[in-house]
Amino acid sequence: MVKPKIAPSMLSSDFANLASEAERMIRCGADWLHMDIMVLSLFNHFVPNLTIGAPVIESLRKHTEAYLDCHLMVTNPLDYVEPLGKAGASGFTFHVEVSKDNWRELVQKIKSKGMKPGVSLRPGTPVEEVYPLLDDENPVEMVLVMTVEPGFGGQKFMPEMMDKVHTLRKKYPSLDIEVDGGLGPSTIDLAAAAGANCIVAGSSVFGAPDPAHVISLMRKSVESAQTIS
Ligand code: DX5
Ligand code: ZN
Repeated sequence: MVKPKIAPSMLSSDFANLASEAERMIRCGADWLHMDIMVLSLFNHFVPNLTIGAPVIESLRKHTEAYLDCHLMVTNPLDYVEPLGKAGASGFTFHVEVSKDNWRELVQKIKSKGMKPGVSLRPGTPVEEVYPLLDDENPVEMVLVMTVEPGFGGQKFMPEMMDKVHTLRKKYPSLDIEVDGGLGPSTIDLAAAAGANCIVAGSSVFGAPDPAHVISLMRKSVESAQTIS
């Protein structure tokens, strides 16, 4: 059975106090810290936002041993493998939409830098597009199903994405399947029932008066869905 992993999205944290926010989340029971890497350029960006990069990961790494689950919302993920590896990233999840021609090279490089390779898909991308990356002899080790359009925290969960999660869980029983966007107490049960085990949550955790309670509630939801299935 795949282990539940609750990953607060640091995009919703107080960036001016990133180290203490990270520590607070770990104290509240987080398994991973989700780090959203977005680059905004004039003509060629994957999402219309600009967040953090390798220098911030490097600084944060000096303050925590936590698993840093990096989600690359960039058009050229290959350029970030080396810097993020050096900076101390743990997971490196790239988007399938921008990696059609070089995913084999990406996976191989990510692993050679000691990181866990994952692939993500936008809401409009069919789930079949990640099968070749999972069936390869050197496969990705996680699939991140976006449950909102990537770019910003605080958006509404798209329940219709649960078909993708369900299909993946049936085909790959021991795969880490992550969901990202709009997860919280009111949506976790749907994601857990579909078979997601890695849960990213930004606004619902950081906006809660008791983040530990929200984290524990989401973990319990994943655990109980697993005992039913
Ligand atoms: C959106 C990011 C998410 C975001 C989730 O592009 O990938 O990780 O922080 O935030 P919430 O949980 O608030 O939807
Ligand atoms: Zn994310």
